[in-house]
Amino acid sequence: MNKQFETQSPEETFSLGEKIGRHLTAGDIVCLFGDLGSGKTTLTQGIARGLGVPKEAYVRSPTFTLVNQYEGKLPVFHIDLYRIASLQDLENLGLEETLGSGGVAIVEWAEKLFDAKQPEIPLLGMARWLEIHIQIEQKDTRKFELTARHMGPAGHPVFTLQ
Ligand SMILES: Nc1ncnc2c1ncn2[C@@H]1O[C@H](COP(=O)(O)OP(=O)(O)O)[C@@H](O)[C@H]1O
Ligand SMILES: [Mg+2]
Repeated sequence: MNKQFETQSPEETFSLGEKIGRHLTAGDIVCLFGDLGSGKTTLTQGIARGLGVPKEAYVRSPTFTLVNQYEGKLPVFHIDLYRIASLQDLENLGLEETLGSGGVAIVEWAEKLFDAKQPEIPLLGMARWLEIHIQIEQKDTRKFELTARHMGPAGHPVFTLQ
């Protein structure tokens, strides 16, 4: 599955996020890919709003805290992996537990969750996730490509049996 959207302003990106957020369910992991200033945080704020996080609970970019938690109709985890430098850092964060906790996780700089050499293989135990790739088209224009992904049978641990 693959779907594309285009927005012309931060407000439109927020609205797109709201619509996406309304359709997320427990256990969903949203992986955001896009350059600095592409709109990852703006989209995340909309997603959180769509998941019922109150307006007052402002969703900041958690670059310094790495993980912020908000309460909507489900727990919402806003994760920013910009500062993650190694698999060890990633493991120290205890994300596997967060991702498996039945809330919704939205991850900025999600490339850090995947093997650099095999970007289709997640480093943590993720069975399925939603990818959103964001392109800066023009000053105020952003293109969003949504793709649903899953590990696939070859990625399942049972196939490592000898
Ligand atoms: N269509 C758009 N969608 C989102 N942000 C936009 C758009 N057009 C311009 N902008 C600007 O781009 C920046 C996006 O910032 P932010 O959401 O923090 O991005 P990121 O988290 O990817 O670094 C903001 O300064 C915002 O005003
Ligand atoms: Mg950001």
